[in-house]
Amino acid sequence: MTEFARCILAWYERHARVLPWRSPVGSERGHPNPYAVWISEIMLQQTRVDAVIPYFTRWMKRFPTIQALAAATEQEVLAHWEGLGYYSRARNLHRAAKQIVAAHHGQLPATVAELRNLPGIGRYTAAAIASIAFGQDVATLDGNLKRVFARVFDVSLPVDSAEGENTLWQLAEAHLPPGRAGDYNQALMDLGASICLPKRPRCLLCPVQQLCLARAQGVQEQRPVKKPKAEVPHKLKAAAVILFDGKTLLNRRPTTGLLGGLWEFPAAEVETDSPTAVSLAIQTAYALHVTPISRLAVIQHAYTHFRLTEISWLCRLAEPLVESSLEWIALSDLASYPMGKVDRRIAWHLLSFSASPASFDRRPYDP
Ligand code: ADE
Repeated sequence: MTEFARCILAWYERHARVLPWRSPVGSERGHPNPYAVWISEIMLQQTRVDAVIPYFTRWMKRFPTIQALAAATEQEVLAHWEGLGYYSRARNLHRAAKQIVAAHHGQLPATVAELRNLPGIGRYTAAAIASIAFGQDVATLDGNLKRVFARVFDVSLPVDSAEGENTLWQLAEAHLPPGRAGDYNQALMDLGASICLPKRPRCLLCPVQQLCLARAQGVQEQRPVKKPKAEVPHKLKAAAVILFDGKTLLNRRPTTGLLGGLWEFPAAEVETDSPTAVSLAIQTAYALHVTPISRLAVIQHAYTHFRLTEISWLCRLAEPLVESSLEWIALSDLASYPMGKVDRRIAWHLLSFSASPASFDRRPYDP
């Protein structure tokens, strides 16, 4: 075992975080439930541990087994994911659960190669599951681990370049202690989350401070090196909120792509925020003729590839609705329709608005 691995494991034995997927869920002590490990790794892919814990607990109550997940509807699966973002993760979990029931007798496969055949499982996640849940000797590497290795071994290649990634995978593998891969990988995850922080790392508490080459040079805050990022574009969208008789019109997004399968208020990109521009954009996108009456809310949100300002307008239908894919949903049912953050906030504004005496009239349209 290398000195690095020895220090990391000794630290983990004293400082491992207590996390719900680490304690045995319905299995013997020391052998975590592979299904729980899988769910936690997918939830943790883009999300912090504190945010994941309540979602994980609720998920395991509602879908306690792979069979239960496979048998659920996509709508219910998405509803349990609502607020975590990157919704393809939930759709992939659902598809993978069905695949596991059909092809693996309902048991999560134990090898990296088979795990990688499942939707939503890439190199990082397959290795994390294989090592943590099945004790296999495989190294893994996510953003936190890249930072740790880039600092301890002072890697100055960009960590998001092919060369940089290769170097870091090799380091992770070279130091892997045989028989202890699950603990080694999780120790590095905990170290990255609590000590080797992106900004102002807590080097004085670090178990490998004596080995850290970046620290010896005083460049720990300049590691990891990343390629310069392109500017994120900004989009302006208008949403039409049409209220009639305690119901509102919603659109279900296609099941692939951004926010796939989630519900939304009909919305379209606009150049300017004027009633005329909003009406034209909604007409073009949905063949729906609306008259914007007043603004309900202005909501801003940062997605990975763009920033969004979405202005929701209370609208009247300017002509009756015929043959539309949009659906009238009762306001009292809105909570059970999974939505992204922006639309959920519009729904919240709408519920506060419709509860007030100034609420919209009951006519569907007003020519
Ligand atoms: N981040 C990703 N996977 C994790 C795990 N298993 N434990 C702690 N943090 C993590």
